[in-house]
Amino acid sequence: MHYRDFGTTGWKVSEIGFGGARIGGLLAQDGGRATSLRTLAAAFDAGMNFYDTADMYSQGESEVLIGKAFRRSRDRVFIASKGGFCVPTGKKLIQFIKPFAKPIVRALGLRRAPVSLSAAPAIPQDFSPTYLGKAVEASLHRLQTDYIDLYQLHSPSRDVLTGAPFQDTLGALERLKTQGKIRAYGIALDLAEDASHCLDMTGISSLQMPFGIMDLEASQGIFEGVSKRGIGIIARGCFGGGALKASLTEAELRATEPQWERVLRIRQIVQDFGRSALEAALQFSLREPRIGVNILGMRTPAHVAANFQYYASRPLSDEEFRALLIPAPATGA
Ligand SMILES: NC(=O)c1ccc[n+]([C@@H]2O[C@H](COP(=O)([O-])OP(=O)(O)OC[C@H]3O[C@@H](n4cnc5c(N)ncnc54)[C@H](OP(=O)(O)O)[C@@H]3O)[C@@H](O)[C@H]2O)c1
Repeated sequence: MHYRDFGTTGWKVSEIGFGGARIGGLLAQDGGRATSLRTLAAAFDAGMNFYDTADMYSQGESEVLIGKAFRRSRDRVFIASKGGFCVPTGKKLIQFIKPFAKPIVRALGLRRAPVSLSAAPAIPQDFSPTYLGKAVEASLHRLQTDYIDLYQLHSPSRDVLTGAPFQDTLGALERLKTQGKIRAYGIALDLAEDASHCLDMTGISSLQMPFGIMDLEASQGIFEGVSKRGIGIIARGCFGGGALKASLTEAELRATEPQWERVLRIRQIVQDFGRSALEAALQFSLREPRIGVNILGMRTPAHVAANFQYYASRPLSDEEFRALLIPAPATGA
């Protein structure tokens, strides 16, 4: 594993990090908690030292699992959590009934739908100092730690980012940092283009945004300004949220992925180069030197093993790289 500078934090972060959105949860598949813990252990053994999570992932269970996995190696990993979404009462109820419901879910063979997070119904958000103070305490508790390395505001809209109360939000984060509850703070953006509204926010250490062969356009021209200001870049969605995996049939792709034509084109191209789409996608993202860490969503030890192989494969040639610069269809997909 190679490590990169993360903005001006002085941290050396692994080139690939762990995206923790799909570990835990009521519909966790393939062995549930035990598998998630083995997945995290495999990522650590592979040299990954950056773990992205959020208080709302699997209603807090993602943080719980990461806390459990790294209780004894806390100083060897960077834990990046997020807050700002208010988990609604219905979800709190699910958390309560989960231990009783899990056997039923297993027996019925229910599976988590392959929906993207952005397609989820709107959940209320709160970025007020009071709310964030409580959210950080709750995350610290779930993570079994007394500090969070990087605390990220979870998907604030452009209105939130540019509104006057946002100064209070940044002030609250600065206080949490002074108190030692968080070591650094940043913003996890839904849209890469919103980075332009964050460049003058002194104090932020990171910006997280989508980037990869499925997300070429949005970040164009953004990385330069972000890295010049010493802000660490966390790139996510390298695998198109799973759309690039080989197991999806063309019919499934057409039904679930707005950019299905692009996926089919990528599949065609990589075949000529003797690579899988996931390998090509990861090598494509690794070519961008201004990214600190590419976080990959993983659920199983097999995902970790395969992704490490893709990571260790030969870098893209210039010819391969150019071939993968597929413009988005004119329809705007
Ligand atoms: N606004 C935000 O802050 C925000 C939004 C989205 C994501 N995130 C973060 O970014 C991370 C990554 O995002 P993501 O999970 O949506 O995108 P991703 O990394 O592009 O895709 C992850 C999915 O790809 C599939 N996959 C991964 N490795 C594989 C392998 N070796 N073989 C086959 N399939 C494989 C898995 O699909 P299956 O699970 O279907 O098998 C996995 O869930 C998240 O975990 C989260 O930490 C943050």
